[in-house]
Amino acid sequence: MLREQLEDIEIQLLLEGIHRYYGFDFRNYALASLKRRIWKIIRAESLTSISGLQEKVLHDPECMERFLCSLSVNVTTMFRDPNFFLMFRKKVVPILRTYPFIRVWHAGCSSGEEVYSLAILLQEEGLYHRCRLYATDINEMVLKKAKAGIYPLDAMQYYTQNYLQAGGKKAFSEYYTSAYEHAIFSSYLKENIIFSQHNLVIDNSFNEFNIILCRNVLIYFNRFLQQRVFNLFHESLVQFGILGLGRQETMKFTPHEQDYEQLEGGEKFYRRIR
Ligand SMILES: C[S@@+](CC[C@H](N)C(=O)[O-])C[C@H]1O[C@@H](n2cnc3c(N)ncnc32)[C@H](O)[C@@H]1O
Repeated sequence: MLREQLEDIEIQLLLEGIHRYYGFDFRNYALASLKRRIWKIIRAESLTSISGLQEKVLHDPECMERFLCSLSVNVTTMFRDPNFFLMFRKKVVPILRTYPFIRVWHAGCSSGEEVYSLAILLQEEGLYHRCRLYATDINEMVLKKAKAGIYPLDAMQYYTQNYLQAGGKKAFSEYYTSAYEHAIFSSYLKENIIFSQHNLVIDNSFNEFNIILCRNVLIYFNRFLQQRVFNLFHESLVQFGILGLGRQETMKFTPHEQDYEQLEGGEKFYRRIR
């Protein structure tokens, strides 16, 4: 048997064990990036094989925590892809103005930078008081950071540039206070945000939304899993609701393709029409 086949078997066994014992289901994550990250964890744990990792992860919940953190890529920034937020202002905000109350689901929100970006934008557009933002992620550790809303001060220069490119209307520093090399975002931005754990692979819909944003999460899933998530979003979006995806993600060639039209502006905003 080829070494590669053995590696695939070991990965399947590892993921099956984690799923059965802890309930986290990574079995349909995209294989190539999954493999890379699993080997990184193996080295970090000073192990030499996937089976070795399986043993450790199943017997040591702290190792499982570390596994979960390393496996979920949590990279995010404020006003990431500023043009996305600019188009949100130009194309999505006018639609939102027609709603008396706006429910937003931010799925895979990581440490919250995108959620605060959206809260700031909605505040500037005079809509925040009408909004409820549900920000979810599989990973409890990043959710804790998101709830705190405290980020390294040295990132603020970059975030300020993004904010301005996204059509920001004020001085970005108005939204946070600085202390001990950190930026602490104003608590009024949190007032309408609910952070909670939600796993897109196994959990169901929990509300009906006018907007769902899920960016840079589906790229880690295989086709089967992406399909599950698109079904979940379809169930959760109101008629004419909007789904926003990441740059490399698309609704093209999915069974729901015909149910949505893409908004003009080149960003991945899809409006549910059926
Ligand atoms: C690369 S980050 C994207 C963060 C943010 N949306 C952005 O674009 O900047 C991907 C996030 O997806 C989360 N994630 C991975 N698998 C998930 C799942 N099954 N359910 C919910 N969130 C998941 C990870 O924990 C991580 O925080």
